[in-house]
Amino acid sequence: MTRKLTAFEPGHSSAAARLFAESYRTAREQDPLLPPRFEDPQVVEPRIGEMAEKRLGVAALTDGVLTGYLLGRVIPSWRGARTAYVPFWAHAVSGEERGRAMEDMYSALTGGWTSDGCTVHLATVLAQDKEIVDTLFRVGHGMAVYDTMRDLRPVDGPFADVNVRRAGPEDRDTFHSLRAGLVDYLSGPPVFLVTGEDKAEEYYRDWLGDRSKAVWLAYRGAEAAGYLQACRLDEKVLVTDDRTAWVQGAYTRQDLRNQGIAAALLRECVEWAGSEGFERLAVDFEGENVLGRRFWLKHFEPVAVSLVRHLDVRCLGEGIQAAD
Ligand SMILES: CC(C)(COP(=O)(O)OP(=O)(O)OC[C@H]1O[C@@H](n2cnc3c(N)ncnc32)[C@H](O)[C@@H]1OP(=O)(O)O)[C@@H](O)C(=O)NCCC(=O)NCCS
Repeated sequence: MTRKLTAFEPGHSSAAARLFAESYRTAREQDPLLPPRFEDPQVVEPRIGEMAEKRLGVAALTDGVLTGYLLGRVIPSWRGARTAYVPFWAHAVSGEERGRAMEDMYSALTGGWTSDGCTVHLATVLAQDKEIVDTLFRVGHGMAVYDTMRDLRPVDGPFADVNVRRAGPEDRDTFHSLRAGLVDYLSGPPVFLVTGEDKAEEYYRDWLGDRSKAVWLAYRGAEAAGYLQACRLDEKVLVTDDRTAWVQGAYTRQDLRNQGIAAALLRECVEWAGSEGFERLAVDFEGENVLGRRFWLKHFEPVAVSLVRHLDVRCLGEGIQAAD
């Protein structure tokens, strides 16, 4: 039996969706935190079909049967560079030597990505699929972003002796100044994340006025010491569903860290998530965010990881222009 590669066509979409759903089911047996939603092939089939229409991938066939596929779309700018992105549902491979098959499919697509002007390759993989994670490391990728989840059991301490309360519209300035602290931290060493963030007033009105979103403030005496914000989030590139609440940011003032303030905020958030009917809480963060990573990984487990490879920009050559 030999695996043959061919261009991914719309006719491959339903077999690919079934292959993905099967591998997701296997992943979920090992990682019950994963939302059940993606065990249904119909959830991902339209997403796969959309990429198939644009001829963005490769299919692996074994004796005429689809045993693997890889699809990548171009993002005009991710961290400032034209990027080929593979979402978590845009690849699956079954059978023996899965890593080898992934390497072959990846190799087959990279030429097209470079011709299209991409100097960054980014792929999201279910964290429990060690074989594919290792394969991407072997072909030059490194850690970019963790997607993590936890159930709603009580949070582990220690907890600081702070007063935590839900913020409302009257807390706009306090929320704004704590968020500014977060943006400042993320833009500096060692994270160097260029958020370009300058949120409009609407952002604050929305977060503080819409009761489906929640911001908590932690006070030590009269002083605001930190905050955490969470809401429902349904994005096509995330492993999520309507029972998953997402933490969208958290920050403790530098002089008050390591005293259990963020843990106290998280405790409130987990209680809120339970009372709102959520089943799990999620957060994503950059691997290079050392403080954030340490804190989140104490309370959450990775369910997916996004791995990145940066190419030498000279590989584009003189004749190749990024086409938008
Ligand atoms: C991530 C962040 C919010 C954590 O806030 P924090 O209030 O310091 O968090 P906690 O105090 O609850 O926990 C931090 C550590 O202090 C420890 N700690 C807490 N109370 C303690 C105490 N009384 N004695 C000893 N250690 C204590 C915790 O166990 C934890 O240890 P760890 O580093 O081994 O995981 C904070 O570091 C921060 O604002 N970072 C910059 C912004 C950021 O990265 N935000 C998250 C991304 S959105």
